[in-house]
Amino acid sequence: MSNNNNGVAIVPEHLAIIMDGNGRWAKKRILGTSRGHRAGVEALRTVLRAARARGVRYMTVYAFSSENWKRPSDEVSALMALLKRYLANEVAELKQEGVRLSFIGRRDRLGDDIVAMIEAAERDTADREAFRLNLAVDYGGQWDISNAARLLAEEVAAGRLSPSDINESTVHHHTALSELPAPDLLIRTGGDVRISNYLLWQSAYTEFYFCDTLWPDFGAADLDAAIDEFATRQRRYGGRTEDAVC
Ligand code: IPE
Ligand code: IPE
Ligand code: MG
Repeated sequence: MSNNNNGVAIVPEHLAIIMDGNGRWAKKRILGTSRGHRAGVEALRTVLRAARARGVRYMTVYAFSSENWKRPSDEVSALMALLKRYLANEVAELKQEGVRLSFIGRRDRLGDDIVAMIEAAERDTADREAFRLNLAVDYGGQWDISNAARLLAEEVAAGRLSPSDINESTVHHHTALSELPAPDLLIRTGGDVRISNYLLWQSAYTEFYFCDTLWPDFGAADLDAAIDEFATRQRRYGGRTEDAVC
């Protein structure tokens, strides 16, 4: 993360996005929900390019939450088909542009064909270093933390770890994205002001930016506005950035 002399962050190194509002975007146009999700993929392309141009290094986007299975089955099917199409059409270009693709979330509830495509995309782009795009699919922050607890419990049961070794650091190393710096900025589009079970552990000191723009309408200028606002934030992490008199 870059800072100016006052400890003010300039460009987020790691940007997280809750891409919300596809359904309302489609409804406003009297279109089916899946058209909104398709428009959302276009917005992702645009924002990825703009984020790279602004100097962002890592981007983690919420594509499908662990609660989105509750949606009508035809919408879930359309979203899965869209993910497959994205993987089939985009991976070669992302690879060529130096983008490493990673997925966070559960894999045991996804179709075997999607899991195979996810694994192939991760393998094919594993050596790319210019930019990292993480897609959160069947991801939930509560799952992430409880999964870390389960993995640690297994290590304790196997005698490789003692309960007293469990602390912030060991939990952290079993959560998603532990190899990356925490998100500096989290943007949620679509007007709702909540976290919807996104990166609960990872966002402990993330700056939040909420905007009303529906995700398919979110473009480079909106990203600039979010980053400009981020640049004004004072990040203290519980400490003090200025001299204080007691
Ligand atoms: C976000 O858009 C995309 C996913 C959850 C997959 P929504 O589909 O939630 O859009 P709204 O909130 O209904 O407008
Ligand atoms: C969060 O949006 C999930 C994604 C953007 C993938 P939702 O639309 O599912 O969130 P809620 O239900 O409004 O909290
Ligand atoms: Mg929504």
